[in-house]
Amino acid sequence: MGIIYCEKDRTFTLQTKNTTYQMQVDRYGFLLHLYYGKKTDGCMDYLLTYYDRGFSGNPYDAGEDRTYSMDTLPQEFPCYGNGDFRSTAFAVENADGSMSCDLRYKSHVIIDGKYNLEGLPAVYASEEEAQTLEILMEDPVTGVKVVLLYGVLPAQDIITRSVSVKNESSGKIYLNKIESASLDFLYGDYELLTFYGRHAMERNVQRVPVVHGTQKIGSVRGTSSHQYNPMMILAEKETTEDKGNCYAMSFVYSGCFQGEVLKDQLNQTRMMLGLQEEAFRYPLETGEMFQAPEVILSYSSEGMNRLSQNLHHCIRQHICRGKYKEEIRPILINSWEAAYFDFTGDTIYELAKAAKEVNIDMLVMDDGWFGVRNSDNCSLGDWKVNTDKITGGLKHLVDEVNKIGLEFGIWFEPEMISPNSDLYRAHPEWAIQIPGREATQSRQQYVLDLSRPEVLDYVYESVASILRSANIVYVKWDMNRQLSDLGSTYLEAEEQQELFHRYVLGVYALQERLVTEFPDLLLENCSGGGARFDPGMLYYSPQIWCSDDTDAIERLMIQEGTSLIYPLSTMGAHVSDCPNHAVGRVTPFETRGHVALAGTFGYELDVTKIPEEDRKMIPEQTKMYHKYHELVREGDYYRIASYRENHLYDCWAVASKD
Ligand code: GLA
Repeated sequence: MGIIYCEKDRTFTLQTKNTTYQMQVDRYGFLLHLYYGKKTDGCMDYLLTYYDRGFSGNPYDAGEDRTYSMDTLPQEFPCYGNGDFRSTAFAVENADGSMSCDLRYKSHVIIDGKYNLEGLPAVYASEEEAQTLEILMEDPVTGVKVVLLYGVLPAQDIITRSVSVKNESSGKIYLNKIESASLDFLYGDYELLTFYGRHAMERNVQRVPVVHGTQKIGSVRGTSSHQYNPMMILAEKETTEDKGNCYAMSFVYSGCFQGEVLKDQLNQTRMMLGLQEEAFRYPLETGEMFQAPEVILSYSSEGMNRLSQNLHHCIRQHICRGKYKEEIRPILINSWEAAYFDFTGDTIYELAKAAKEVNIDMLVMDDGWFGVRNSDNCSLGDWKVNTDKITGGLKHLVDEVNKIGLEFGIWFEPEMISPNSDLYRAHPEWAIQIPGREATQSRQQYVLDLSRPEVLDYVYESVASILRSANIVYVKWDMNRQLSDLGSTYLEAEEQQELFHRYVLGVYALQERLVTEFPDLLLENCSGGGARFDPGMLYYSPQIWCSDDTDAIERLMIQEGTSLIYPLSTMGAHVSDCPNHAVGRVTPFETRGHVALAGTFGYELDVTKIPEEDRKMIPEQTKMYHKYHELVREGDYYRIASYRENHLYDCWAVASKD
């Protein structure tokens, strides 16, 4: 059994194959975190120590006992305003304007199976594979109710956490901060791994000691971002790939987020991950509820390879869905680096013919096929085929490509609107903008206001009608700018700060609709490469374009950083032309192949224009792909050497589970 409640000790113990997580309802009804680590049993409250710590106050209930302090005891869901002066997970502004929340245990339920979160992606599992614990907490003064949700997948060493808030107080409250997971560590000297980057160089690994003060990462860009990935690893100083203790948190969310790690006055460590608190003030009327997204937790006592494998398995089997979860992915050739905007139906057809000769399975027509889009400064929103380029129309082209024996895929950037588009001329109010201000442009485009229901319908129909019009089996869903100048003419003044979150919910609703109507579609998400590479998007698409940097050598580092949390089966990786378009480096064709084979595998070049000796290697590479695709997709991945560290060579292995 994964979840055990012990009435005598009032402890909740979450057991997985190799790990134990424990919390306790203490004498005053507070929920204390006792332990997360290597598997054990029994009540762990002997780990708690009580001393009179100066300038760390005591709750009223403790009376004259100065050894009991919210500021020093490990909290399961620390709240602002009740005597815990560390950074907290939850800050609420009550109807009377006060900023305080005092949550006490009310009740709990244990259920077979894993909870779902309505409208949000989350880990899923069968009744045999998982259990759910729901702990109801209440502020007895205001009536604000919080449900702490735990999903336990024992065989995978995975625990998930989420939080929902219900306003049962007498007036409107505001949520100013809500982190989905918080972990307190009483002991240990830790280092923090975070994953920073920029466009075309995502998920670099940074490993630094946890120091006094707060170390914080996050995004205020509306997407999870190139700059920080929504994941963190806490590792003991001695922890390597193959030994030592380490903990991961990964946020199943695709918008603004924050992660915080702090060392407190007693050298205790707190780690939290959840929604970004900047530009977040969520009003809740009496009776309304807010559901926070989910965080995935895992712990390994056998180093980071094992930690990654736990997460890989969870993401592959319990986040990714659909036909391609376990099926061979087609080897695709993408027109972007082959032709950019400079193509016609005929050149696409020629590319497909040449691709067929070297055993490629699918042709993907990237940006440039719609509106009057011959460069990146117009037409987003005008999802009508440009018949000056694609003479004969899309269906004709798709049929011709199918006749050669190749499948057909297509690119969209559905969430965007170019100022120079028919859509913007008709509906300027559909763009996210603050009335009376000129909005920031990025790639000369604005973002559509996905809080508007009619915009969601328009966007959906734009994509779906194209898919219904021809035999298209793959979509690359792109998103090429951040959100700024947040304003919606649809929302009330007070709702404006909900826009970041509502936007993400809109993206999820769109993709859910898409995979429901087209269950066999292979969806690949993308955001200027890897700006939305997160478990949230992987719930809809089993693969994401890893980076716009296709240089094999830089990809070693990008893919290594990505692999700390994400399985190889999710990493869009292609062989591209040389000198590389992003960095100008020349690498052997064979090297480019090997690096792309550690991902979803495909090509991003004009096969008719590359040197003959390179072209000749493609059938060999596709053969290798067919030999190893299952292993790469399903196997246990080990980082052995790191080019990022040694700047000389890289080495990894994938071992079959048997
Ligand atoms: C983004 C993507 C690229 C390509 C272009 C098209 O940058 O990451 O792969 O699709 O958009 O504009």
